[in-house]
Amino acid sequence: MIRIPGTDYLRYKSVFHGCRFPLAFVDLDHFDRNIAYVADTCKGTGKTIRVASKSIRSPALLRRVFEKGGDVFQGILAFTMEEAEFLIENGFDDIIVAYPSIQPPDVKIFTENTRQGARLSLMADSFDHLTALSRAGVAAGVILNICLDVDMSYRPLGSRLHLGVRRSPLRSVKDVLALALAAKDLPGIRIVSLMGYEAQVASVNDDLPGHAVKNTLTRWFKKNSARELAKRRGEIVRALADAGITLEVVNGGGSGSLISTARDPSVTEVTAGSAFFAPGLFHYFHQVTFQPAAFFGLQVVRRPAPGIVTCQGGGYTASGEAGPSRLPWPVLPRGLKYIGMEGAGEVQTPLVLPKDAPVLEAGDPVFFQHAKAGELCERFNRLYLVKGKKIADEVPTYRGEGHAFL
Ligand SMILES: Cc1ncc(COP(=O)(O)O)c(C=O)c1O
Repeated sequence: MIRIPGTDYLRYKSVFHGCRFPLAFVDLDHFDRNIAYVADTCKGTGKTIRVASKSIRSPALLRRVFEKGGDVFQGILAFTMEEAEFLIENGFDDIIVAYPSIQPPDVKIFTENTRQGARLSLMADSFDHLTALSRAGVAAGVILNICLDVDMSYRPLGSRLHLGVRRSPLRSVKDVLALALAAKDLPGIRIVSLMGYEAQVASVNDDLPGHAVKNTLTRWFKKNSARELAKRRGEIVRALADAGITLEVVNGGGSGSLISTARDPSVTEVTAGSAFFAPGLFHYFHQVTFQPAAFFGLQVVRRPAPGIVTCQGGGYTASGEAGPSRLPWPVLPRGLKYIGMEGAGEVQTPLVLPKDAPVLEAGDPVFFQHAKAGELCERFNRLYLVKGKKIADEVPTYRGEGHAFL
């Protein structure tokens, strides 16, 4: 469980004195500690870590992960083909685009970059995906690298209970083997890797304050799920090997499952992205603890009543199931609360101060974390990089580079 020290309020306030708000920043000391922590989770396992770029969305910070983290960090899990091309242009290599797309502009990027020698793969989970890519590969005279996506959800009661994301229809050994064998007969493509993302382990909090019973139950489900999926994943990998299909990569997991996924013998690499910014939804994990590193600051512009301040901007709601956890998390000063009828507003965000809070005046900052990691960068062109009590640098986000990939 994470608790952001209240003293950080005065530090960040003084760092940004005189700056224009709203602003977003990354605390480099915390970011670097997260890089070292993530690297440590794989120590002694022989696994490498693939960086989920959607959870960073800034080339400079992506680069920092590889520079500071060393060889254990290998490759990027990208979220669109256009993004992959942008990353290749920026000097990154070994990219798996984690979500399928067979629209012609994406397929063109895929074939052209493959022709130019990029190490690039695209996710697929159906015969339709494979035939479209096969046709494109043949037409372009290249062999396209394909990663198969396997559903790693947990279904303890069969189809009556689905815990996990709804993405790939491939679930059983039989499903995966049938598609992989079909792919063997298709020209212009080859299966090089397998990915299975266990969202029900990697992205579900199980150390929520004040929820002891729920936490215990969630951990129990996660443990059972990790056991079930490790068995199934192992069987799938073995069946593919027996059929002569050699996988270069077996990818699994995410930030919240770094430890359990790295222990899975059939996995060759684990994905991590949100771990580096450690946003609101990554505060409460039992097995892993990150340092909150990415924040945004708003300025108090008015005081509508005693005990309430109103900030300029702030409605940076996260994707996913709509609910209070997707609102930005006001973290500094500690104890600030939204007003239920307003939440985080398009241009104004009122906040209720706790009884013991310092007085906030117009012009004072309030600091938040986005609920999710990379989405913060869709609201800001630049990120300040803070080191100790100083702004060390400023770097562009994807948006600042003129890109909105999704
Ligand atoms: C395919 C896939 N792998 C891994 C992850 C985990 O990413 P993160 O570490 O940012 O939670 C995600 C997140 O949505 C994902 O979609």
